[in-house]
Amino acid sequence: MNVIRFEDLVAQGQVTGRRVFIRADLNVPLDDAGQITEDTRVRASIPCIQMALNAGAAVMVTSHLGRPTEGEFKPADSLAPVARRMGELMGREVPVIANWVDGVDVQPGQVVLLENCRVNKGEKKNNEELAKKMAALCDIFVHDAFGTAHRAEASTYGIAQFAKIACAGPLLAAEIDAITKALAHPKRPLVAIVAGSKVSTKLTILQALAKNVDQLIVGGGIANTFMLAAGLPIGKSLAEADLLADARAVIEAMKARGAAVPIPVDVVTAKTFAADAPATVKAATDVQADDLILDIGPTTAAQLAQQLKAAGTIVWNGPVGVFEFDAFAHGTETVARAIAESDAFSIAGGGDTLAAIAKYGIEKDIGYISTGGGAFLEVLEGKTLPAFEILQRRAAG
Ligand code: 3PG
Repeated sequence: MNVIRFEDLVAQGQVTGRRVFIRADLNVPLDDAGQITEDTRVRASIPCIQMALNAGAAVMVTSHLGRPTEGEFKPADSLAPVARRMGELMGREVPVIANWVDGVDVQPGQVVLLENCRVNKGEKKNNEELAKKMAALCDIFVHDAFGTAHRAEASTYGIAQFAKIACAGPLLAAEIDAITKALAHPKRPLVAIVAGSKVSTKLTILQALAKNVDQLIVGGGIANTFMLAAGLPIGKSLAEADLLADARAVIEAMKARGAAVPIPVDVVTAKTFAADAPATVKAATDVQADDLILDIGPTTAAQLAQQLKAAGTIVWNGPVGVFEFDAFAHGTETVARAIAESDAFSIAGGGDTLAAIAKYGIEKDIGYISTGGGAFLEVLEGKTLPAFEILQRRAAG
């Protein structure tokens, strides 16, 4: 993907003394007291900011936080907790600037955090006048917000249209490189794991991946629907009977390409959905009418582990069982450890997947962990993200 990279501009000496506007994704979870409960996105934003400061730029950073009402700033919408965390991480004060659209006072070597950009009227609808004002604040616009790359808003898209220079920051560039390596030029076999409660929420992803991957491993409620489509009993497990035809179409599309959707041969069941519910391993053909399938069985897990170890590339979105309950975590743990041990390049994304990676402590063994939620899913759907589209267009001149 041909985009201008901020790193290259720095190396060419084009950033020194310039006004740099960085759009980060600092949309972090906060507790009721306004404390950040998970700061990955703040930490991920620092390399770009530090790169700009080291190059001697005057640095403005902004992000959305939550989904505030435009034009109606409330204290809970403030990026102040983010500024504090950023200040701790960078060992310097990071002032928060409100009402910044018409002008920002910032000098080379300084960084300021521009208050929640979604409070500005016209942000969500990518208002042209607002985008032009933002673009006028800077010499260089840096998009470093992969988590927001699927949105075409004034601070993500419009500003990129009108800024003198629009480029990708190091975080966005790393995401682009990992996505390209995994999906555009994968080392084969390419194995994807798509798991989650419902086929309906991931149907377009399954359909898109069915055209590309060599193995499509389904898990969770999605696997139940595929088991049903394959003629297996699933008891009272979560499934979507109205999507059986779609599931069969995915299986057929894979078969036609000589690829496969592995269907579980054994499962772990319980009679109730509870952490302390007794777990029973049984053949997939033996599931009873009052059973709930809460995990894949050990034979299936071992088979999938073999496939993952032999893969060239792995794309992982979703745990294959209810891994939050220890009795039903074996499948997800086996899959996670197989990905970690595999020589394949792996890319993982999505909230539950990140929680599983953290639970098994395998962060360092995953090729790339995406910071995107919805953006990562849209990539898997095969969509061109607005951020990628506009940055490529700007690179083309
Ligand atoms: C996210 O949390 O996935 C991103 O920050 C995007 O947030 P949004 O869905 O409110 O646009």
